[in-house]
Amino acid sequence: MHKLCAIDGISEPGSKGFDHSPKGPVFVVRYDGQIFVYANNCPHLGVNLEWEPDRFLDKEDRLIQCCMHGALFRIEDGECLSGPCVGDSLTPVPHEIKDNTIYLFD
Ligand code: FES
Repeated sequence: MHKLCAIDGISEPGSKGFDHSPKGPVFVVRYDGQIFVYANNCPHLGVNLEWEPDRFLDKEDRLIQCCMHGALFRIEDGECLSGPCVGDSLTPVPHEIKDNTIYLFD
């Protein structure tokens, strides 16, 4: 198990990116009392999604948004709801939460 970060280090709603993890670049979204972890890889062109460091959500903090062409993804399951990759999904990263800390499986 790889320790990624403490949940308290992420605002709610909010997001945080990690360039170096055993799964490559990943990001965490904290939303509605839950934690979601995805590969930082847009299904459209494979680029990183964030607008600026640790900013993966849209203006309303309701969807994940890719900075390149504005694709919008549902936070809960990563499905693209609008944009050039509608129907594709972000890749979820298996993780576990223990003692308020997010761990990735090796
Ligand atoms: S690269 Fe993400 S929407 Fe085009």
